[in-house]
Amino acid sequence: MTQLHEQESLAKLVDRIGSKHAGKRLEMQAHYSALLMGGHHIHVHMEELPAIAWLLKTSLKVTGLWPIAVKNSTNYRIVEHSVPLHHLPEAFDGFRILHLSDLHIEGMIDKGQSLQHTLSTLQFDLCVLTGDFRFRTYGSYDKTLRLMESLVKTIQAPFGVTGILGNHDWLEMVPGLEQAGIRMLLNETQALEKGSDAIWLLGLDDVHYYETGDLDKAVEAAPTDTVRILLVHSPEIIPEAFSAGMDLYLCGHSHGGQICLPGGQPIITHCRCARSYKAGPWQHESMRGYTSRGVGTSLFPIRMNCQPEIITHTLRKIPEQK
Ligand SMILES: [Fe+2]
Repeated sequence: MTQLHEQESLAKLVDRIGSKHAGKRLEMQAHYSALLMGGHHIHVHMEELPAIAWLLKTSLKVTGLWPIAVKNSTNYRIVEHSVPLHHLPEAFDGFRILHLSDLHIEGMIDKGQSLQHTLSTLQFDLCVLTGDFRFRTYGSYDKTLRLMESLVKTIQAPFGVTGILGNHDWLEMVPGLEQAGIRMLLNETQALEKGSDAIWLLGLDDVHYYETGDLDKAVEAAPTDTVRILLVHSPEIIPEAFSAGMDLYLCGHSHGGQICLPGGQPIITHCRCARSYKAGPWQHESMRGYTSRGVGTSLFPIRMNCQPEIITHTLRKIPEQK
């Protein structure tokens, strides 16, 4: 994409999502990267805490665990998750949603090759990507877009690929991600239709760091008498989503801890929510949810006691009581 084309695409995006939303995102992104470029340490994530990062790397190297941890980073776990839903139209009983989160794709040791291979063995109707395409939280995203384009080309889903931004992603990446074949939702909605039946996806911008997610806006744009699936990068607005009537909440962000104690107990997750919502399937009142442990990594391409995961959510109709 040329620089002029990039500017035109961004201007169209600002028109689409509104100048208030775009302005807040762009201003915070600029402020954040200026601080980092100026050598300030922002206590947002571990990668901005060099002492902890150094300690982690040194400990794994000294104990000889580093090569194992690197190998673990592409040892994908395939997860089948069944989602029973009231009011699911008959036509969507058995509908399969492939859920990938936190790709951080240019940080992958094989740049997504084994992920592509694994995906080619799976069957699904729709693919959703719940944010964090980029490895770092600032800087160039050219490589991210190139690798995402190559990954999306290999994803065969009749209902396509839908994504949202995470806290590692910038608004400027949206035109490139859309050109790569991902339908990006920024507090927007998408109807999935089968004949005269439909269910709806609602996709929010990041609620964790940029706080530009707007649940109310997305809710207003979707009908209420339908199954509604919310895509949010992090599990940090679960009570609000339940109050807004969401049926299913899909997210990531925590990486399940990425580096965990034996038994899978995370050390750090960067999530402001109850422990039970930080990884795997959960339920809040009648709303189902899943917090993906992610397919990628941040800080270093390593995992311990926490496999990267590829999840397929299968929607199941709960029969009506007679
Ligand atoms: Fe992430």
